[in-house]
Amino acid sequence: IDADGTRVFTLDAQAGTTEFARGVASETWGFDGAYLGPTLVAARGERVRVDVRNSLDVPTTVHWHGMHLPAEMDGGPHQMIEPDATWSPEWEVDQQAATLWYHPHPHGETESHVARGLAGLFLVQDEQEAALPLPREYGVDDVPVIVQDSGFSADGRREDPQQGFAGRLGDELIVNGTRGPFLEVHDELVRLRLLNASTARAYAFGWSDGRPIELIATDGGLLEASVELDRVMLSPGERAEVLVRVAPGERVTLQSVMTPELAGMNPSIAASNGITDAFDVLEVRAADRLDPAPEVPEQLADVPPVDTDDIATTRTFTLDGFQINGDQMAMDRVDETVTVDTTERWIVENTSQMPHSFHVHDVQFRIASIDGSPPPPELAGWKDTIFARPETRYELVLRFEDYADPDTPYMYHCHLLWHEDQGMMGQFAVV
Ligand code: C2O
Ligand code: CU
Ligand code: CU
Repeated sequence: IDADGTRVFTLDAQAGTTEFARGVASETWGFDGAYLGPTLVAARGERVRVDVRNSLDVPTTVHWHGMHLPAEMDGGPHQMIEPDATWSPEWEVDQQAATLWYHPHPHGETESHVARGLAGLFLVQDEQEAALPLPREYGVDDVPVIVQDSGFSADGRREDPQQGFAGRLGDELIVNGTRGPFLEVHDELVRLRLLNASTARAYAFGWSDGRPIELIATDGGLLEASVELDRVMLSPGERAEVLVRVAPGERVTLQSVMTPELAGMNPSIAASNGITDAFDVLEVRAADRLDPAPEVPEQLADVPPVDTDDIATTRTFTLDGFQINGDQMAMDRVDETVTVDTTERWIVENTSQMPHSFHVHDVQFRIASIDGSPPPPELAGWKDTIFARPETRYELVLRFEDYADPDTPYMYHCHLLWHEDQGMMGQFAVV
């Protein structure tokens, strides 16, 4: 904390080597280290600044995914950081407790920068969340689970997988930078903060013994009440907070088993999109003696009903052929101009046969309907990224509260990063 009360973080994007297999070095990138980056934590109402140094030999950016902040601080493709330069965005944290993250966003290069390891979590805390009896001891009973896929050579060197329609789908997982990970726990109740930081792969997380997965939060914060599900689906960029209750000495594995049915996809083209793949993600090993945990209350947060009374503008975004509304991203074209302090309806329609995702910078939004029906409870909370199933129409309601800036746009895009790099992205300005 500096003299005027600003919480200051530093991040240094750098090249290094990581041993995914003992004694075998892979060339990777990371923040303040060789792979991934530190978890940043700030409270609602705090002023924060991040001094981001670029020690790489290529330009990059750092975007605060899910954060509500001025467009100039957003870290999109217009806020490039040259090699050896430092960029120091600052803003006031003005949103509820949530699991956000940060990653590069240089236009056309995002996939390769993230795949090499540039990503980290940014946790927002607030008083409402702090008052709940939830696990929150970082790394002990409140544990980040950053999931990425990659290819590996026979001796364990990281290799970029082959390019397919979705992007690069790896046949192995890396969790928090580790292959084949396990987590030893000493508490009966554990909170896992899942981030899909993969460039192309969607996951359907569930437990190996068939117990339900207890979902408490999505991208933008806590759900109204926890939801028990067989599977939690996360497309690239999405987050989920889940609770797991373990018995002494027990072992249970978080897995991902994706199916064409879950993804709403034609089975004949599912395999080439990674939609038939299964993985062990993380084995949870409970100690023989566990600290007891309180009951978690039914009601977690106040999530207001979606308000469609006050819609100022309706826009449509059609996802097809690596384009949005038939256009590819152009750095000097602002596609949509939004009036500050208004609420909008964005219809996102995936008219193609393959899954995409849709992410909007600056705001947390709500899903009002999916193909005309209300969303299921797991999609009824605050979101900044959605899994856009093939041939499906999503109605989003977004409020653009403040931060008007006619000169600096925000982005919306498919978060399959190869699609984004191909131009499946557009820009909106809040004026
Ligand atoms: Cu997570 Cu525009 O990005
Ligand atoms: Cu973002
Ligand atoms: Cu896409």
